[in-house]
Amino acid sequence: PKPAGLTSLIVETPEDGFALAIKLSQKAVGATQKDVEVRKSLRPIYANDPNSLIAVSHVVATHFQTISAANNYWRK
Ligand code: HEM
Repeated sequence: PKPAGLTSLIVETPEDGFALAIKLSQKAVGATQKDVEVRKSLRPIYANDPNSLIAVSHVVATHFQTISAANNYWRK
């Protein structure tokens, strides 16, 4: 799936919208912790913690709601 750049919330399909939601979530992490080495060191921790994974899922779901609304739920 190809997420749009952060220039637009308008995407062709729900799958692309979901990819964009993930990208937005990651952007916030990168904006908050700019040191890539710190992010790399924390990756195995959150990746192996079920509650962190649920938290990730929630953040992505929130962005996906916004993107879905912006695209009128891909209704034709
Ligand atoms: C990898 C999503 C939070 C650091 C990934 C990957 C995804 C992802 C999908 C796999 C990328 C791939 O293998 O192609 C997210 C989302 C987050 C989040 C949606 C928050 C809602 C964080 C946090 C950190 C972090 C809090 C560290 C502070 C990393 C790093 C990788 C990674 C270092 C490895 C990238 C690589 O393999 O090259 N993340 N992540 N992420 N994430 Fe996150």
